[in-house]
Amino acid sequence: MLRLIGNQFKRPTGFLGKIISKIMIKGNSQDYDKIIPELEIKRNDRILEIGYGHGLGVNRISTHYDCHITGIDFSELMFKEATKRNKIYIENKKVELNFGNFLAFEIGSDQFDKVFCVHVIYFWDILADPLAKINTVLKEGGAFCLFMAKTDYLKTMKFTKDGIFNKYSLDQVVDELRRAGFRDISHITNDKGYIIKCKK
Ligand SMILES: C[S@@+](CC[C@H](N)C(=O)[O-])C[C@H]1O[C@@H](n2cnc3c(N)ncnc32)[C@H](O)[C@@H]1O
Repeated sequence: MLRLIGNQFKRPTGFLGKIISKIMIKGNSQDYDKIIPELEIKRNDRILEIGYGHGLGVNRISTHYDCHITGIDFSELMFKEATKRNKIYIENKKVELNFGNFLAFEIGSDQFDKVFCVHVIYFWDILADPLAKINTVLKEGGAFCLFMAKTDYLKTMKFTKDGIFNKYSLDQVVDELRRAGFRDISHITNDKGYIIKCKK
C-alpha cells in the first residue's frame, strides 16, 4: 500500500491520483508561494516548469506575470487536470503544457530564461542527466530554481520510506549542480525544505 501511494506521488493515475492531486494542492501551495518570487520573473521571460502536476504553479504565474510558460509532466492525469485549470492561458498562447518525460522530451538548447521544479527531484535516481539537460535548455545567464523537502520532513511520511523517493541532502544537490556546470548556487531554508537557486 505504501509503495502504491509513493508511486502516485511520482506519477498520479486514476481515482487515487485525483485524491493525491488534491493533497498536493493543499500541501504544496505554500511552496509555490515561496518559490515563485525567487524566479524573479521579468516581462516576456520564457519559463519551464518540470513536473507541473495539478498546474497550480503555472496558473499563479500566468495570472500575475507577463511571461510565457511551458510545462512538462509525464502523468496523463496531471496533464489533463493542469490543462483544464489553465484553459484560458493555453488558448491565448501564454501557456503550453506537454505530456511526456522530461528526460526523454526533445527540447532545443538555450530556450528558457528560467527553469523550475517543485517536489520533483526525489524521483530522479541519478541527478547528473536531468541537471545537464536543464543546463542545456537554459539560456546563458538563465536561472534554475527548485524546491525540495528536507530528508527529516520526508521521513515523517511513511510512503516515502521505500525506494521511490530519493532523499537527497542539500550538499548532495549543490555538488551535483556544480558538477553540471551551474554557478552562483544559493539556498533558502524553511521548516519544510529548501529553495535552491543557481545560474547557467
Ligand atoms: C510529487 S508531484 C509534484 C507536483 C507539483 N509540482 C507539486 O509540487 O505539487 C511530482 C510531479 O512530477 C511529475 N514528474 C516526475 N518525474 C517526471 C519526469 N521525469 N518528467 C515529467 N514529469 C515528471 C509527476 O507526474 C508529478 O506530477
